[in-house]
Amino acid sequence: MYQPTLVFVHAFPLQSAMWQPQQNAFGDDVRVFAPDLPGFGGQARLDGETFSMKLAARFVQRELDANKIDRFVLAGLSMGGYIAFECWRLFGDRIDGMILADTRATPDSQEARAGRYAAAERIGRGDFAEWAEELLGNLLSPATLRDKPDLVDVVRRIIHSSPPESAVAALLGMAQRNDSTSLLSEINVPVSVIVGEDDRIISVAESRAMASEMPNATFTSIAGAGHLSNLENHDAFNTAVKKLLELVSQQAVA
Ligand code: MLT
Repeated sequence: MYQPTLVFVHAFPLQSAMWQPQQNAFGDDVRVFAPDLPGFGGQARLDGETFSMKLAARFVQRELDANKIDRFVLAGLSMGGYIAFECWRLFGDRIDGMILADTRATPDSQEARAGRYAAAERIGRGDFAEWAEELLGNLLSPATLRDKPDLVDVVRRIIHSSPPESAVAALLGMAQRNDSTSLLSEINVPVSVIVGEDDRIISVAESRAMASEMPNATFTSIAGAGHLSNLENHDAFNTAVKKLLELVSQQAVA
């Protein structure tokens, strides 16, 4: 049976290590490819530039080519989702299915954009650690913050290890990202839209509405999870991924 490669694009300001639960769950059965984006994880820091979502998508494309991955299921969480939309624009003909988790197709509102520029300035003034700690509280659900100290520590360590310059570059890139709402009706491959029930950044209602605009999408909300649904309730997240893989495989056979 056709077994698609799973490609995972990470959130901001994280790194590919955030996909460890998915690597563990699927890595024995399918090829899992989860690159660190420029500026994060094992990549060199970004400095004084804007890391646009299009640049990120071109990077993903180069990595796929270098690793001889022709067709795949593309998963993106939050910023990874913004990048996944750019990937669809650039090389959608290679994408067999998509997982869009805790993300949105709309661009930043004026207020959100202003918030990003303010955060970039704040980090520029040397306030990265405090900013990162506040972000941590927004990314994780109250249940995770209360009951999963080990996971909180893992996420804290990842976020605090991101270079401040890279965070600024990605904040500017996200602020200037394209409106991808017009793509929703044309993404005709199977899509799994996923959101944590307690996501403070993307609401369940917004996420469900996005799924309803896509011709071939299913929608899953994940109990006990905030914005990092793949980490906070990996079993439920992985169940949704597994269903999507089955759908993609069936369509390949049909
Ligand atoms: C992310 O998790 O990638 C960020 O929350 C995205 C954003 O700030 O819009």
